[in-house]
Amino acid sequence: MCGIVGAVAQRNVVPILLEGLRRLEYRGYDSAGLVVVHEGGLERVRSVGRVQGLAEAAAGHGVHGHTGIAHTRWATHGAPTEANAHPHISGELAVVHNGIIENHEALRHRLMDLGYRFTSETDTEVIAHLIHFHLRSEADLLRATQKAVAELAGAYAIGVALASAPNRLVCARQGSPLLVGLGIEENFIASDVSALLPVTQRVIYLEEGDVAELGLLAVRVYDREGRPAAREVHLSELSAEMAELGAYRHFMQKEIHEQPRAVADTLAGVLGAQSIAPEVFGFEAAEVFARTEQVLLLACGTSYHAACTAAHWLEAHAGLPARAEVASEYRYRASVPRPDTLVVTISQSGETADTLAALKQAQALGLADTLGICNVAESALIRASRLRFLTRAGPEIGVASTKAFTTQLAALFVLTLALAKARGRLNPEEEARHIQALRALPQQIADALKLEPAIAAWAERFADKHHALFLGRGVHYPIALEGALKLKEISYIHAEAYPAGELKHGPLALVDKDMPVVAIAPNDALLEKLKSNLEEVRARGGELYVFMDHEAHIAEQDNLHMMRVTPHAGVLSPVVHVVPLQILAYHAALVRGTDVDKPRNLAKSVTVE
Ligand code: M6R
Repeated sequence: MCGIVGAVAQRNVVPILLEGLRRLEYRGYDSAGLVVVHEGGLERVRSVGRVQGLAEAAAGHGVHGHTGIAHTRWATHGAPTEANAHPHISGELAVVHNGIIENHEALRHRLMDLGYRFTSETDTEVIAHLIHFHLRSEADLLRATQKAVAELAGAYAIGVALASAPNRLVCARQGSPLLVGLGIEENFIASDVSALLPVTQRVIYLEEGDVAELGLLAVRVYDREGRPAAREVHLSELSAEMAELGAYRHFMQKEIHEQPRAVADTLAGVLGAQSIAPEVFGFEAAEVFARTEQVLLLACGTSYHAACTAAHWLEAHAGLPARAEVASEYRYRASVPRPDTLVVTISQSGETADTLAALKQAQALGLADTLGICNVAESALIRASRLRFLTRAGPEIGVASTKAFTTQLAALFVLTLALAKARGRLNPEEEARHIQALRALPQQIADALKLEPAIAAWAERFADKHHALFLGRGVHYPIALEGALKLKEISYIHAEAYPAGELKHGPLALVDKDMPVVAIAPNDALLEKLKSNLEEVRARGGELYVFMDHEAHIAEQDNLHMMRVTPHAGVLSPVVHVVPLQILAYHAALVRGTDVDKPRNLAKSVTVE
C-alpha cells in the first residue's frame, strides 16, 4: 500500500527520498511523487509507474532541496494517474497520505463552498486544503495540522511540508503506520523502517493520534490532545543489507531459500531449554493459558492459512476448540464472545487494517486475552496485544508471503504445545519428541529446497494453463489453499484449493486435460482416502502433480507425476510440504514473465480495508 518518506536535512534530500521510495516499492504501488522546498517555493514531480520513472523525471527537472516529502501511491480513490499521485498541494503546502479518509466527501463539499478548487479525485487532497484552511487562522503548521486531523474520520499517516518553512516537516498518524527516523542534524519520516536504513536505524514509532514536528535538530511529538508526549527511541535490528537481493533473482526466491534460517531463528528462543515455557509468549502467558477454553484465530491471506493449520493442531493436540476466521469477516459479523477465549491474531506486517480491526472488535466484545504473532516488533498488532510472539523471519519484501508463513507455523506449533501442556495433555516424553521434531525442521526445509530444479521443470508445464486445482486433506488442506494463493497471486493462473473429499461435490466437473491438479499426499491417516480422490481425477483425464513424503506409496500411472519431498515429517508435515508449492508458483511466474515481487494490483501491507 502507499509508502511515505520525508526528510529535513542540510544536504539535498532528493536522493534520500528516492532511495526510501525504492525500499518501499515492495509495499505495492502504481504511481509516485515528491515535493521539495526550494527557495521559498515547492517543486513537485509525479509520475505513473515505477519509482525509476520518478527518479528520471526529478533528474530531468533538476529538482533539489533540503526538505521534502515523497510517496508511492496504491490507488484507492481515483485511478492511478499523475493528477491523483501525491503529494497534493494547497497554496504553499504539500501533503502525502497513506490511509482512507472516510468523511472526505462531506469535507470536500465544505471546502468547495469555501472556494477551494480540487484537481484530483483523491481523498488526500481534502487534507491538504483542510490544513491550508486552518493555516489561515493559526499561522502555524503544527497547530493547523492538529486542527485538521481532529476533523478527519478514517485512517491516515500524513507528511506535510510548507514552502515558507524550510527545515521543517509535520506528520501525523491514526490507523496507518508512520515512524520518525533520527539522524545527526537531520530527521526523517517513513511508513516503515526499511525506507530509512541507509540513513538511520534510530526510530520513534508514533502512536495512534500522534502529531510530530521535525526540525534539523529536534523532533517534538504531541499526543491526540496536543500534549507533548515522550516516545521511546528504538534501535532497529534491521540493516540496509538485510533488504538487499544479493545473488538471487527475486526477493521471493531469496525469501523461500531463507526459510531454514528464518525458522531456526524463530525457534531459537524457544528451544534453548529442554521444555516449552509459556513465557515465550509473554510474562502473563501461563495465567492466560490456564484459563483458556477455546481459541479464535484471526488473520488475512497467507496468515489466515497459518491460522487454519493451527486450528487443526490445537484441536488435535491441545484438545481445545479452535476456529480460524478471516479478519475482514469477523470484524463486521455479530459473534458470540466467550470470555475464556484466547484471541490469536497473526500477521507478517502487523499493520494489516482488517486484522487490527478484528483485534479491536474482539477486545470491544470483552475478549481481553489476546496474542499477536507477528514479524514486526514495533507493529500496531504487537503493541495492541496482551501476549506477543515475534517470528524472526527478517524483512519480507516479496509481495507473496513465504518465510513469514513457515515461521508463523513454527510459532503456532509452539503455541499448540504450550496450551497442550497447560491442559495436562503433553507428557515429558511427547514434549521431548516434539522439541526434537522442531529442531529437525530447518534441515527438512533445506532438503525440500533442493527439489527446486525438478519443480522448475514441472512449472514449465503450467505456463500455458489458465486454471489449476490444489487438493489436500485434513491439516494439509490449508497448505493446498496456500499453494493456490501463491500460484494465482504471482503467475495470474486461476487456482482453487479444495479438501480432496469435496471433489465429487462439484469441482470434478472442471477436470480435464487442461486442468493441472496438484495434490499434497503425505503418508498420514488420510493417504488412502486421498488416493481414491486422485483416481477420480485421473479417470476424467486430469493431469496430477503429487507432492508426497518418502513413506507414501502411490502406484505409478499415466498422467501422474510424483515428487518425494521429505521423510515423513509427522505433525510438522504441513510446514515442509508448503515449500515445494512456493517454488512451483515462483517458477510458473518466471516462465510466464510476470513481475514476481510486485504482482499487479497487490500491495505488501494492506493498510486500508
Ligand atoms: O501482513 P499480513 O500477514 O497481515 O498480510 C496478510 C495478507 O495481506 C498477506 O498474507 C497476503 O495474502 C500475501 N500477499 C499472500 O502472499
